Amino acid sequence: MSAQDSLKDRVVLIAGAAGGLGSAAAVACAAAGASVILLGRKVRALNKVYESVKAAGPDPMLYPMDLEGAVPDDFDQLAQAIDGEFGRLDGLLHCAAEFRALTPLAHTDPADFARAIHVDLTARWWLTQACLPLLAKSDAGAAVFVLDTPERRGKPGAAGAFWGGYGLAQSAQAALVPMLQAELGASGPRISGLRPGPMRTGLRAAAYQLNVDPEARPAADYAPACVELLAATGAAWRGKIRDLQEPLAVADPA
Ligand SMILES: NC(=O)c1ccc[n+]([C@@H]2O[C@H](COP(=O)([O-])OP(=O)(O)OC[C@H]3O[C@@H](n4cnc5c(N)ncnc54)[C@H](OP(=O)(O)O)[C@@H]3O)[C@@H](O)[C@H]2O)c1
Repeated sequence: MSAQDSLKDRVVLIAGAAGGLGSAAAVACAAAGASVILLGRKVRALNKVYESVKAAGPDPMLYPMDLEGAVPDDFDQLAQAIDGEFGRLDGLLHCAAEFRALTPLAHTDPADFARAIHVDLTARWWLTQACLPLLAKSDAGAAVFVLDTPERRGKPGAAGAFWGGYGLAQSAQAALVPMLQAELGASGPRISGLRPGPMRTGLRAAAYQLNVDPEARPAADYAPACVELLAATGAAWRGKIRDLQEPLAVADPA
């Protein structure tokens, strides 16, 4: 099967589908043949993505949801809706992320801290947990967590300084990927992580001035990696994180 139809007839749920990477990945997944479910909190933004996805492949489905306020029952309801419509889920891509500003921990508003941990870790897990039975119904179910490493040495934010709840949630998710895979085993749904490099998105703009950020690339540059990890080609990354932050340091899956 060519890369062009690597997700043919697959059903993929993208959380954060109106974001920089989420929207680019949604279009790329549709172009690879997938029926895409677009989850995001702003209907108008989702509608724009809907049009681009529709132009690239099968008609997508919209699912407006604010991850901050959603409770486990809401995720179960989403899983039931997907089950009713498709009977299974082949891919889950986590692109939704909450990050407002670089802030010293000592001065972080307690509510902001809790919000970041909730959206960037707890809600991602609750969504994954609700979808696991549906992913297990697929012959190649895969969940992909898009991660960041704000603790890059020698760069602003070394040791993760100032990245607060968002930064801590990245470390926790990096631990979650192999932990969950170990529990699901070799025949269960595949769990992987993806660390894209710096991208020109709203999230990046909250930490860096984009006009003086030559490192940052268009989010679309990393969409093919999302497709690759969601498709059968991602099998080598079972329980592992694909690190594209430093192009020279791409980890070998072996
Ligand atoms: N940008 C980078 O340089 C970079 C580098 C490494 C890793 N990453 C990772 O890449 C992924 C995608 O980030 P991005 O750069 O594409 O950022 P982005 O453009 O800001 O997209 C993040 C998306 O998350 C959504 N979101 C935030 N809070 C939400 C909530 N409570 N409920 C539902 N949706 C919510 C946002 O919705 P709204 O549109 O409504 O705000 C937005 O669509 C994230 O996992 C991030 O950690 C980014």
